[in-house]
Amino acid sequence: MTAPARVLLVGAGNMGTNHARVISRSGDAVLAGLVDPREHVGREIAERFETVWHPSLPDLRDVDAVVLAAATEAHYELAMEVLGQGVPLLVEKPVSDSLLRTREILDLASARDIPFMCGLLERYNPAVLTARSLITDPFHISATRHSPYAPRIRTGVSWDLLVHDVDLALLFMGSDPVAVDAKLGHFHPDSSPDSEDVAEALLEFGGGGVAQISASRVGQRKIRHLSVYEADRLVEIDLLRRDVTVYHHVSENSADGAGRGYRQQTIIEIPELITSNEPLTTQFERFLSIINGTEDAAAERATILPPHRVIHQVTSRDQGAG
Ligand SMILES: NC(=O)c1ccc[n+]([C@@H]2O[C@H](COP(=O)([O-])OP(=O)(O)OC[C@H]3O[C@@H](n4cnc5c(N)ncnc54)[C@H](O)[C@@H]3O)[C@@H](O)[C@H]2O)c1
Repeated sequence: MTAPARVLLVGAGNMGTNHARVISRSGDAVLAGLVDPREHVGREIAERFETVWHPSLPDLRDVDAVVLAAATEAHYELAMEVLGQGVPLLVEKPVSDSLLRTREILDLASARDIPFMCGLLERYNPAVLTARSLITDPFHISATRHSPYAPRIRTGVSWDLLVHDVDLALLFMGSDPVAVDAKLGHFHPDSSPDSEDVAEALLEFGGGGVAQISASRVGQRKIRHLSVYEADRLVEIDLLRRDVTVYHHVSENSADGAGRGYRQQTIIEIPELITSNEPLTTQFERFLSIINGTEDAAAERATILPPHRVIHQVTSRDQGAG
């Protein structure tokens, strides 16, 4: 039996608190410390999960891995520091809000073959895992991820929200897009002028597949919806409620003999989910498997850059448009 991994958590905000819960409940890891510059928040969360608080990154010699859930703006410096010391790292999405810096971080992890993961959490949503087990030949994807405004998020909605569904579209289609088009909208008075509130992206894949992805942080309710079309079925995924519905159209005709109204026959299936595990737990278990070598670290690293590259294309188009 191997000793539990000593995991240091950086960031005690919304996501950091969830990571603290998952790490401290794991039978294969211990929460070896919590870093956050906000003393009262850091101390309170550290106390709740029975660990020690640090105002900044401590000496990592005693640590087997780091989970980085600080604000996105702080990822680059912290990730470079952790990887510079050769310590495995799970960094929240996005790795950084710049393709250049994301590449730099990934290059360092690859050059030293350090286990590295990005918290693209929807990959581990039970509804997504179930849909992926059903879908074989998608040609059209439509995704909507809308949220009410959250002033604490300083990056644009593309790096913050769009990245999740871009990542899923790439996974479902099984390739990177050959073309990316986008329109961005700036609406909220509290957003910084260079961070957009709405992003509408259109991705084209080799062979003609198309994905239309909508992200907004100026909505009035949380929507997380994905429709994936194949030749003979539509798979609808509600990522919030974590359910999957499969539709197969059979026939349509008029509702009465005189040709008035509309009648359609559709077969609807509700498949059993293949897991009910919390995505953050599944993701963390995968991170531990990558660290102990039962999952391929290089293959995992190779999945991280493509969605970041697409988000770079989406946000650069805005600058192009002036
Ligand atoms: N995977 C997901 O579904 C998901 C969901 C929400 C947020 N996130 C990501 O998680 C990260 C944190 O988001 P959040 O919603 O928890 O934000 P938050 O504002 O609630 O928390 C951020 C925390 O980081 C801390 N921090 C800032 N600079 C730091 C530094 N140098 N060292 C240590 N801590 C520092 C802040 O004090 C704060 O406590 C972001 O990168 C975000 O994109 C991911």
